[in-house]
Amino acid sequence: MDHFDFHDGVLHAEDVPLPVIAGAVGTPVYVYSRATLTRHARVFRDALAPLERTHIAFAVKANPNLAVLKLLAAEGYGADVVSGGEMERALAAGMAAQDVVFSGVGKSDAELARGLEAGIGQFNLESEEEGIALAAIAAAQGRTAQAALRVNPDVDAGTHGKISTGKAENKFGVPYDRAAAIYARLAALPGLAMRGLAVHIGSQLSSLDPLEAAFAKMGGLMRAIRAEGLAVTHMDLGGGVGVPYKAGDAFPSPAEYGAMVARVTQGWDATLMFEPGRVIAGNSGVLVTKVIRVKPGVAAPFVVVDAAMNDLARPAMYDAWHDFVAVTPGGTRETANIVGPICESSDTFAMGRDIDVVAPGDLAVFRTAGAYGATMANTYNSRALVPEVMVDGDKWAIVADRIDPATILAAERVPDWLL
Ligand code: LLP
Repeated sequence: MDHFDFHDGVLHAEDVPLPVIAGAVGTPVYVYSRATLTRHARVFRDALAPLERTHIAFAVKANPNLAVLKLLAAEGYGADVVSGGEMERALAAGMAAQDVVFSGVGKSDAELARGLEAGIGQFNLESEEEGIALAAIAAAQGRTAQAALRVNPDVDAGTHGKISTGKAENKFGVPYDRAAAIYARLAALPGLAMRGLAVHIGSQLSSLDPLEAAFAKMGGLMRAIRAEGLAVTHMDLGGGVGVPYKAGDAFPSPAEYGAMVARVTQGWDATLMFEPGRVIAGNSGVLVTKVIRVKPGVAAPFVVVDAAMNDLARPAMYDAWHDFVAVTPGGTRETANIVGPICESSDTFAMGRDIDVVAPGDLAVFRTAGAYGATMANTYNSRALVPEVMVDGDKWAIVADRIDPATILAAERVPDWLL
């Protein structure tokens, strides 16, 4: 459910006609709906409400915009961060350091040190080596790091290979069979307080079964570690719940996810931690684009839009589907290829897609672009960095400026020895 609907034949974000934003800000532009974000944050939180002790940390990588993080902080969310930059954003958004989980497979010593100084609530360790480094830095600072060990459960998430993380051959976590021994060794180090286990098997999961299998394995590991007399008070179950990208696709609901978690974790007696990203932000954003040109193709015409793979990378990277909808559809449909202006064939949003007939100058949106959209944008082909807008009822505001090529050019230097 979202708040991007047609009123009098014009697609709106809440009460704002998208042509108003496109006219004022230009295109391409990401538009987020505050009501949609808030709704998702609450639906997910409510789905977990029956669980005894929970902590929800929004996966900042999905949408790190400061306004988005502020909104989620106000909804009681903490943050799951994977870099020093994301950590500073979460703190700037007013999230308590205690509510921040620091994940990531390659945290540098400087990032670990800064996280400790900031009072980060939990470090999710991806290896024994990282735990040893963190312990040493913490001890040198006279601090104790609260940490969890990320375990690779060797479960196939059944999602796209590039966003699967829980198979044995993936780079994430420590092998399941070695986890208990590593946990025990890390727990003995001064500077480190091992308090739990973490798991995340992948993103955009369309079935809850792999999650359930992974959680069940983690429960077994938790019991084995406790049997050795060690404390496991926190179990971080990661993110991964998928969202429908195609109108009409059915996906597990947050309520079904919550019920599954309640079933698997019964009797765990641990604080359950969650790191949702896409399920919170995914369909609370659209990418608004303008048709530049329509040109004939062999099997179908090419609709060339002013958004490109640098603005929305998912189709090029993962063959991902984003529904394409005209902002003022005329009622006729055609089969077309939707492409951007960038000079490589991967800059293709869709081939042979049944779409609203559009003409040069028309506006359209790629839906479900609120997660892994703007955050993955870049400036390839010396294009601008795409701006972001948030709508709230009939109000709207720019929440990230367009960074134009001149600004980027101004940051470049030619050394005087070059000429
Ligand atoms: N926790 C960890 C440790 C993660 O690595 C991720 C996502 C999440 C939580 C959040 O997962 P979510 O709930 O959003 O599925 N760029 C890709 C997605 C990459 C996800 C990486 N990790 C895409 O556009 O599909």
